[in-house]
Amino acid sequence: MAIERTFTIIKPDATAAGHVGEIITELERAGFRILALKKLHLTRAQAEGFYAVHSERPFFESLVTFMTEGEIVPIALERDNAITALRELMGPTNASEAPPETIRGKFGTNIERNAMHGSDAPATAAVEIAFFFSRLELDR
Ligand code: RTP
Ligand code: MG
Repeated sequence: MAIERTFTIIKPDATAAGHVGEIITELERAGFRILALKKLHLTRAQAEGFYAVHSERPFFESLVTFMTEGEIVPIALERDNAITALRELMGPTNASEAPPETIRGKFGTNIERNAMHGSDAPATAAVEIAFFFSRLELDR
């Protein structure tokens, strides 16, 4: 399996609760290499842009409010089979139904406050990484 890039965000719930270190440890233990990482607080317009694909969904306004309530930690990651491996490590969207060994099971609360984001395909990973990181931060 070729080395692949994916993208995650440690969301405001997990960042405010002080779980950044534990989540990064889980990512590294699972074989992910950190390509680039930062901490920031999204504006409403930035969060609406990042989640534009969901703009027609009933949960959009609530999601944007959640994603702008505090600081987040976006991380570009590399591993073989990274997209699928991250989604497995993360668990299902609804944290209240996520298995206890998954990151959402450990650190999430419900279908919205679910601790972390994970890209769903190589094309979306590339767009999401470029949303948060410049070439200067990514080129190796
Ligand atoms: P993500 O994009 O954050 O990795 O999550 P996902 O693929 O598992 O779920 P997605 O359908 O892409 O939804 C994006 C985020 O929106 C919030 N959400 N709320 N209230 C609801 O019914 C609902 N559904 C989704 C979650 O924060 C979800 O991660
Ligand atoms: Mg998604």
